[in-house]
Amino acid sequence: MTYDDILEIYNSIKDRIPFQPRVGLVLGSGLGGFADDYEVATSIPYSEIKGFPVSTVEGHDGRFIFARIHDVPVVMMKGRVHLYEGYKTEEVVLPIRIMKLMGIEKLILTNAAGGINLDFSPGTLMIITDHISSFVPSPLIGKNIPEFETRFPDMSAVYDRELTDCIRKSGRELGIELKEGVYIQTTGPNYETPAEIVAYRTLGASAVGMSTAIEAMVANAMGVRVCGISCITNMASGVTTKPLSHKEVGEVAARTGDNFKKLVDGIIGNL
Ligand code: HPA
Repeated sequence: MTYDDILEIYNSIKDRIPFQPRVGLVLGSGLGGFADDYEVATSIPYSEIKGFPVSTVEGHDGRFIFARIHDVPVVMMKGRVHLYEGYKTEEVVLPIRIMKLMGIEKLILTNAAGGINLDFSPGTLMIITDHISSFVPSPLIGKNIPEFETRFPDMSAVYDRELTDCIRKSGRELGIELKEGVYIQTTGPNYETPAEIVAYRTLGASAVGMSTAIEAMVANAMGVRVCGISCITNMASGVTTKPLSHKEVGEVAARTGDNFKKLVDGIIGNL
C-alpha cells in the first residue's frame, strides 16, 4: 500500500469528519459500548469506507466514532481487524494510519488478553509497559512510506512515559487497582498451548493477545504517542486446568467493562 492509496481512503471520508481529533482510542473487547455514554458527533462504519478492512468476527461491529470527551476531541475505533482474519499486517494497521492523517497526537490502545503473570486473575487491568511482537510480522514490512516514518524506526520507548503515568494517576484517583506488564502478540486465532505460555513467561511476557503490538509499533513509528491497557479476561493456557473459550473471554470482558470504561474516561480527562 502506498502513501497515495492511504491518502485516497482518507480523502474519501475527510468531509464526514466533524473535528480534528487529538486522541485516538481503540476499543477492545469489553469496551465496545464505551461510546454509548457520550454524545456522538459522527460515526462512520468501516463498511462505508472503500478499501477498508472489515471485521469478519461476529459481534465486532466496526466503525469510527467521533465524540468530545472532557472537551477532548476523540476518534474511537469500535472494532478492529486482526491478523487471524487473513488480513495482512499493513491492512490491520491501516485504520491507525488513517487516524494519523485525521490529526491524532496520542493513541490509547485497549484489548482483552490472557494472563501469563501468576499474580493476575480474570478482571485484572494491566498497563502495557512494553511488548513483544517477534512472533508476528512487522506492519512496516514493504516499501518504506517516508511521509509516515523512517525505514528503521526506533522502538526503545513505544509506550509513552507521560501517558503511562497518566494511566497510573487515573487509576489512583478512581481507586481502580492496576497491574503492569509486557504484552506479547500472537497471530491467533487459536489460543496458546501450555508450553507456549511457559515460553512466553520465560521471555518476560505478562499477558498474551492477538492485537495491539503492531498497532502500537506503527503509531510509534509515525510519531504518535502511545499507551495501552489490557483487560485480563482469563488466565492463559495451562495456568489452570480449564479449557479456554471465546465465550468466557467475552463474559469477563463485559463484566469488567464498567471499571475499564471509568478508567479510560478518567485517562482522557487527565491527558
Ligand atoms: N490468548 C490470546 N488472546 C487472548 C486470550 C488468551 O488467552 N484471552 C483473550 N485474548
